[in-house]
Amino acid sequence: MKIKVGIIGGSGLYSLDCLENAQDVDVSTPYGKPSDKISVGTINGVNCAVLARHGRDHKFMPSTVNYRANIWALRELGCTHIIASTACGSLREDIKPGELVLLDQFIDRTTKREQTFYDCAPTSPRGVCHAPMDEPFCSKTRQILYETAQELGIKVHAKGTCVTIEGPRFSSKAESHLFRRWEADVVNMTTVPEVVLAKEAGLCYAAVALPTDYDCWRESEENVTADLVLKIFAENVSKVTRIFIAALPKIAQQDWTQYITDLKAKILSSVVIHKS
Ligand code: ADE
Repeated sequence: MKIKVGIIGGSGLYSLDCLENAQDVDVSTPYGKPSDKISVGTINGVNCAVLARHGRDHKFMPSTVNYRANIWALRELGCTHIIASTACGSLREDIKPGELVLLDQFIDRTTKREQTFYDCAPTSPRGVCHAPMDEPFCSKTRQILYETAQELGIKVHAKGTCVTIEGPRFSSKAESHLFRRWEADVVNMTTVPEVVLAKEAGLCYAAVALPTDYDCWRESEENVTADLVLKIFAENVSKVTRIFIAALPKIAQQDWTQYITDLKAKILSSVVIHKS
């Protein structure tokens, strides 16, 4: 199986200089246009497709990112995997800004986003998809990212639950405390529906979350602001890119045939088609 990795960059990760033989491609999908042109090329000999989630000039806020077009376009370009970065707030004392968290679960607090390709439109795949979401993220890809971070000596938390809020506003103190009581580890604005759609598309999706702040629950800390998020993200983004670059050949070396066949079969069996 030919491996190609889609890389979705969050706020402050708009391109990757190390992409060789880079070409920008303009992709259209049944769901409209992705956030921007997609740069295809190779990194460390691995075929990659790089997309800025919010657009290269950050023109889309979390609620208006066309997640369906982004994921569809990456699959259309032949991606088998997606590795994504996302800024987040930490909901735990021991997850410090500047460290990294490999997400393994989510709690969905979004309200306005399309979460399925199977929307019964004439141009969409047929049926209704009740996708299993017990394990939203790809554990095999996550493990590779974890081992890579360890080898590079970068502090990373092996797993974590993120609450995805609708935004664009940050949370109130009451919400932030509530999310802690729900035992969420971090809070962000984009993981849902991105991970959900990647699952529907049969792609192996892993996300590296970069805590930039302690949201607003911690009395002794500066509360989150947009400036703080961008500043701390910029200071630490090279940790994420170093992990991605080093992990790519490891991802490409593995045999994914059975894994991806099973993933796709699981989604196909989740599609209900009513005969009329
Ligand atoms: N992204 C970075 N920090 C965040 C926070 N505290 N809440 C939601 N999204 C974030």
